[in-house]
Amino acid sequence: MNCDLQSKFNELYQAKPKFLAYSPGRVDLMGSHTDYNHGYVVTMPINLEIECAFTPNDTGVVDLYSCDFNTTIKIDTKTGEMIEGDDWGKYVSAVAKVLIDEGHKLKSFTGAFCSTIPVGSGLSSSAALEATMMAILAQVSGFELDKKTMALLSQRAENVYVGVNCGILDQYSVIFGERHKAIKLDCRELSHIQVAWPKDLMVAICNTNKPRTLHGSEYDDRRAQCEEAVCEFAKIDSKITHLRDVSIEFFHEHKDKLSEGAAKRAQFIIEENNRTHELEEALTNADYPLLKDVFNRSFEGARDLFEIANDAMEQMYKAMSTAPGVVASRQAGAGFGGCMVSLIYKDKLEEFKKGVSDTYKELTGIECEIYGVKTAKGTHIESAE
Ligand code: GLA
Repeated sequence: MNCDLQSKFNELYQAKPKFLAYSPGRVDLMGSHTDYNHGYVVTMPINLEIECAFTPNDTGVVDLYSCDFNTTIKIDTKTGEMIEGDDWGKYVSAVAKVLIDEGHKLKSFTGAFCSTIPVGSGLSSSAALEATMMAILAQVSGFELDKKTMALLSQRAENVYVGVNCGILDQYSVIFGERHKAIKLDCRELSHIQVAWPKDLMVAICNTNKPRTLHGSEYDDRRAQCEEAVCEFAKIDSKITHLRDVSIEFFHEHKDKLSEGAAKRAQFIIEENNRTHELEEALTNADYPLLKDVFNRSFEGARDLFEIANDAMEQMYKAMSTAPGVVASRQAGAGFGGCMVSLIYKDKLEEFKKGVSDTYKELTGIECEIYGVKTAKGTHIESAE
């Protein structure tokens, strides 16, 4: 962690915290934008995470300090409204409101948190905050939520009260995370399987340092174009409710019914969804040429068909693909900037970091950040005593 949380808590509230809550960030290894199309995603909870120290209080007001922003928010537990605050408080308020809508009577807590998840860069900093808050509010209020309910309610908080029309990927990944495991998530069934991991590989995340935001971005347009394609295809086969239901053969046979834009988006999603199965196979067989090929095709599709790669991402892709120790590289998260992801040889992290940073700086003039990450445990609470 980048701060001494327990001392900070002590300094703020002249007491020791009773509990510590944690949530990881996540990185997707295959399956961009497949979640809201009811497809699959290979995803990994990562050890860039949120840690929150807290103690229940009986004031009816959540009092929460962010070490990273150096600001405090206060939330009325009767209404979920922020009575004093900063922008990040909207995530906490959103979670409180969703729980109130569900009929829960909320109790309050005093807390402080810090995070190593870079904000607005595609590693689910907001889902991690929402999941942490949901776990804490449930614990202090004395009710239990199973993981699936927590993921769905956190997604609803983001959709309804934050106003971002995201799928289930981020919330599911941070809540269901298990150490030492990447998972293949089925976004229709809301279930997952573990994916094999070759011993000599690790994940490196490369931050373009071009922050992205899903607000006002083209995320909603992409969703709408996917839905447009589904509408047309459903006229031919009424069993089609999402792009998950469309085979690549069906797509090629009927793509002339779609607008050019919708056809490009649909082709990407159908191929990307198939690539999640190819990636699972490549990881299981430690087939590195296939890993590289499937990652490359994912990036090319994201750039040419789904059109979510900006200039910084293209330059980063060049830098990552040519760096020492790399096996495979592609986009991560929603795209439009933010972070990208490589699979690299475990013993080559330092060479990889230097290679990527030097080339990216040369190509763009921007200093990037690179994180060698491990998988991490999903949202959980421990005693601080
Ligand atoms: C963002 C959204 C997710 C998902 C990804 C793209 O992270 O929050 O629901 O759609 O983009 O795969």
